[in-house]
Amino acid sequence: MNAQNNNRMEKIISLCRRRGFIFQSSEIYGGLNACYDYGPLGSELKRNIKDFWWRWMVRRRSDIVGLDAAILMAPRVWEASGHVAGFTDPLVDCKVCKHRFRADMITEPGKCPDCGGALTDVRQFNLMFKTFMGPVEDSASVVYLRPETAQGIYVNYQNVLDSTRLKIPFGIGQIGKAFRNEITTENFIFRTREFEQMEMQYFVKPGSDMQWFDYWKNDRQDYYQALGIRPAKLRFHEHDKKELAHYAAAAFDIEYEFPFGWKELEGIHNRTDFDLKRHQEYSGRDLSYFDEESRERYVPYIVEASAGVDRTLLCILADAYEEQQLEKDTRTVLHFHPTIAPYKVGIFPLVKKDGMPEKARMIEASLRSHFNVFYDESGAVGRRYRRQDEIGTPYCITVDTETLQNDTVTVRDRDSMAQERIKIDALLNYLYDKINI
Ligand code: GAP
Repeated sequence: MNAQNNNRMEKIISLCRRRGFIFQSSEIYGGLNACYDYGPLGSELKRNIKDFWWRWMVRRRSDIVGLDAAILMAPRVWEASGHVAGFTDPLVDCKVCKHRFRADMITEPGKCPDCGGALTDVRQFNLMFKTFMGPVEDSASVVYLRPETAQGIYVNYQNVLDSTRLKIPFGIGQIGKAFRNEITTENFIFRTREFEQMEMQYFVKPGSDMQWFDYWKNDRQDYYQALGIRPAKLRFHEHDKKELAHYAAAAFDIEYEFPFGWKELEGIHNRTDFDLKRHQEYSGRDLSYFDEESRERYVPYIVEASAGVDRTLLCILADAYEEQQLEKDTRTVLHFHPTIAPYKVGIFPLVKKDGMPEKARMIEASLRSHFNVFYDESGAVGRRYRRQDEIGTPYCITVDTETLQNDTVTVRDRDSMAQERIKIDALLNYLYDKINI
């Protein structure tokens, strides 16, 4: 990462902490490595991202339904999925400084990147977190924290089919926590040990899988643009044979140009019938599907779109962050898409007298049940605008002397800083049109 981008990343991290987006986990105890807590603004932003995904992937369509499976699953699930045997990273230790690295990330083989010391031989390290179910800690009671949400969908595929009237092709979407005991964590919330995934598994007839794979590739690109991410910062990366996961016949990453380089944001995979066939074999249950149209029985193929919530949030922060050099000062702005902004509207009385606070409170009360709004009467109004710019609030309403005469307010646009005068009774429709929830 060059110095300028490093600086940009540091500024984003500092803003996140200062304004209550993201804190280090267990900070008062010195912090827990690669675990983060989302503060008042971060939890709103995260919730809005998940809602946006859910609307786009589930509610918008009649062929996709939702699921919320348990994090803990029968251990056999992870044997069937291949995670017990193969979800590993190659690990090396430095014999001198004792630091630990992923062998595939070492640039000079055998040499410690931190102190130049000799490295141990490569060992395979399983990334799944293990714990015990019940009071006895023995091998019979081992369970895993799920490393992906996808398996919860596969083992419920037949329950969903039996309880709905869906027919192939159809999809199941899920948002939930996943855990990976990553050897190297990096770049703030980019790679952490506890994170959230938004995954959709689309079940299709074998032979139509590559067509659906292309369909979802395009749809997912449209999604990021609808989320307000700059198209020039997004690209596809196709996995070559060496990169393909054990379950995938084809895979594309959607990458974003973070300040620390182009990195994976989402994976789109053609998982073939690998997962359902393995669960069929390990559970002894028939997971085939009878296609009434073609009068055939087959095990469906699966096309997956798998995105990280935390990684999306970091991408949104990096994409939205701007320092604007104005005539007299620098303005820090987060240009969030209004739909995902933590607060949609800031409401200010110009001064704390002449009935302006009361009027502003009335407007706050009338908008609060529609949008997340923020009331602020402290300090100069210019400073209040700046505070909202820095957390990405797209609109600020100011009650001034004219309001008391003709029931109009000014509405200031975060990005252009232009102000419009609007009748109070037209405010709600005006904001709905702009915010487009
Ligand atoms: N079910 C397929 C699957 O899990 P993946 O490429 O390993 O595929 C999908 O993960 C997405 O989950 C990634 O594109 C990323 O956004 C997110 N993700 C994976 N590991 C992560 C980690 N350690 N920290 C944060 N996000 C992670």
